[in-house]
Amino acid sequence: MNLDYTYLDCLALLGVGGAHPGGLGLTKDILSKETIDKTTSVLDIGCGTGQTAAHIATQYNCQVSAIDNNRTMLEKAKERFFSLQLPIELQQANAENIPYQENVFDIVLSESVLSFTDVSKTIQEAHRVLKPNGILLAIEMTLDVHHSKKHLEEIKSFYGVPQLLTEFEWIIAFQKGGYNHINIEKHEIQFNENNADDAADFSLSEDIDYEYFTILKEHENLANVYKDILGFRIFRCSK
Ligand SMILES: C[S@@+](CC[C@H](N)C(=O)[O-])C[C@H]1O[C@@H](n2cnc3c(N)ncnc32)[C@H](O)[C@@H]1O
Repeated sequence: MNLDYTYLDCLALLGVGGAHPGGLGLTKDILSKETIDKTTSVLDIGCGTGQTAAHIATQYNCQVSAIDNNRTMLEKAKERFFSLQLPIELQQANAENIPYQENVFDIVLSESVLSFTDVSKTIQEAHRVLKPNGILLAIEMTLDVHHSKKHLEEIKSFYGVPQLLTEFEWIIAFQKGGYNHINIEKHEIQFNENNADDAADFSLSEDIDYEYFTILKEHENLANVYKDILGFRIFRCSK
């Protein structure tokens, strides 16, 4: 299928919040296991429309910074932070080149972001900006069953990801990036229509080309076709 827009363009124009497996519900669950108080500094890389950053600032009243390289995502995040009156520092930046000095953050969060970048560069950058006991929390797509090259290329090309890593390859990448302890959790998504955290969070742009809905449909289709091949893991990496 030849499309003029990428999957990430589609997420940005539709303003999809919580655009990672498990959504806000899983985010809350992961964060609840960490020690976070008002002295904690958190960086959300690839923050999208800012749902997670807003949740952290509201829930923990701590210092939250967020970056994304997509202008549309940033505009939507900015609107969200403004309407909620949250003092979140937001910047347009590449996660492969994080615009902060070393040893600044207690937690760096990557919710379905590393996969879209040069993994080794971004992992090293997160390591650089983390404090000595800092933690990288990453929810990332994994290749769970090897498949034909043709199908893997189809997945990579649709999502615009430079690589599709197995759990083992992720571990190697985190180790090479300097992390000493890597904890991995496999999580089955359970959608609960009565749970507000599972509710769709959209911030639509005006005049959305019909092709974007084709991309969403194709995402649903691929997710279904490759459901036994693709999974995701929660990686908790400490320095
Ligand atoms: C699947 S979305 C996830 C957004 C958000 N973390 C969430 O869970 O809703 C991936 C996000 O990563 C951002 N992104 C991709 N590559 C990036 C890069 N190199 N630097 C910064 N942000 C990037 C995209 O613009 C998009 O907002």
